[in-house]
Amino acid sequence: MKIKFQHHLKASKNTLLIPICEADKKTALASIAENEEVPLHFLKNFNATPGATLLIAGQSAPNVYLLGLGEQLTFGNLVQAFRSFAFRQKKQLTPHLGISLLHDNATQLNPSLIAEAASNGLLLGTYDIGLYKTEKNLLHPLRHRTASLSFWCPRPEATACRKAVEKGSAMAHTQLSIFDLVNAPGNKAQPIDLANWAKASGKKYGYKVKVWNKNQIEANGFHALLAVNRGSEYPPSFIQCEYLPKQYKGTLPKIGLAGKGVTFDTGGLSIKGHANMHFMKSDMGGAAAVLGAMELCAKLQLPVHLIGLVPSTDNCVDAKSVKPGDVIDSYSGKTIEVIDTDAEGRLILADALAYLEKQYQPDIMIDLATLTGSTVRALGYQAGALFTNHDGLAQTLIAAGEKTDERLWRLPLWDAYKKDVESDMADVRNFSGRPVAGAISAAKFLEVFTAQHPKWAHLDIAGVAFG
Ligand code: BES
Ligand code: ZN
Ligand code: ZN
Repeated sequence: MKIKFQHHLKASKNTLLIPICEADKKTALASIAENEEVPLHFLKNFNATPGATLLIAGQSAPNVYLLGLGEQLTFGNLVQAFRSFAFRQKKQLTPHLGISLLHDNATQLNPSLIAEAASNGLLLGTYDIGLYKTEKNLLHPLRHRTASLSFWCPRPEATACRKAVEKGSAMAHTQLSIFDLVNAPGNKAQPIDLANWAKASGKKYGYKVKVWNKNQIEANGFHALLAVNRGSEYPPSFIQCEYLPKQYKGTLPKIGLAGKGVTFDTGGLSIKGHANMHFMKSDMGGAAAVLGAMELCAKLQLPVHLIGLVPSTDNCVDAKSVKPGDVIDSYSGKTIEVIDTDAEGRLILADALAYLEKQYQPDIMIDLATLTGSTVRALGYQAGALFTNHDGLAQTLIAAGEKTDERLWRLPLWDAYKKDVESDMADVRNFSGRPVAGAISAAKFLEVFTAQHPKWAHLDIAGVAFG
């Protein structure tokens, strides 16, 4: 999408969008009435609640949309307002869209924050879920080859706003591609497809990607990943990504991520009910988050040393499937009693976490996984569950989540829950057998494979990924 700038009000043939927050509403409406030559009493109907729109015929453009931003101007809320605007107005928009901060509507708005949120949200709002339709849906006007965004802002803001628009759009393109991965069904996105996505992304944006096939996974003793894969028609993959910007070599803390890449979760022999099983095509949401983070850090050249690991398989039913009660080995050397084959995410993460700690010795270790229905029941689709023993890391992650509207809520990792994963037969078991505290006991299970890393966090994103 082409980005243009303009620093004065002038008449254009294109559609214009004027974002207005609650605090600026009065002055903005007065200025719009005057500059666009519309009666003020007509504009008075407009309330600037998040996502509210009013379409007027103005002087700056034949179609001028007022867009409400509400009171809380967090990045996440702003993105949401622009995103729903682009989505709802798909049929009305043209490929050329102006966004004005010149209508006395920006005293409370931070121009570059608006610029980043607008470009990000508008592009996200073009998402088309009809991936496999043979007759394609109408292409969103903002995705046309010729599409352009002109940003109307005071001249001194132009440089910062250009960077912000570019960043917002770079993020959106990665997010859109990640949406496709998460939405792709189990037969279209197999472990090898996640691996190919990572390889192509690494090549394009300059980070290292190494993929182990089944033989290499066997040779390296990823027994827990192999156990989950036993019932599968498709071989497993283990994806290892690394991004280290050259100029910082040796000076950056090393952050290790691991994401659950279950491309479809039937539950295995402890099979799930049929009602919502089709949603389990998105059980690789943790992997998608890790791959998206890898691509974005490299694309935006962020000063971080990032490792991203993805163990991937589906969890299916077959004569060879791992059975409830089986005792399996793992990369760490610890034995696991598999009480429930539907608690498979923690098995494949056990190998990935133990490997991450041993091979990379990261300063910070974070895993992300659509791990438990228990998290969905506790927090719904509005927040992920955060587990860590490190208060500083908890604060950092919670603050980042608030900024981006990807909220986290901390749950305990007390040893009082340890007996939930103690096994009579093996070193550890994968399920307590009781329908209580499921998210916590899953976290206690993972903790066993972190070699007591002092800065480890587990994010159970089951609700938010599916939401
Ligand atoms: N992938 C599921 C968790 C899940 C459930 C994600 C609903 C999103 C929505 C996971 O593998 C699972 O099945 N967990 C079981 C564990 C139980 C058998 C110990 C669960 O949470 O019920
Ligand atoms: Zn499961
Ligand atoms: Zn699962």
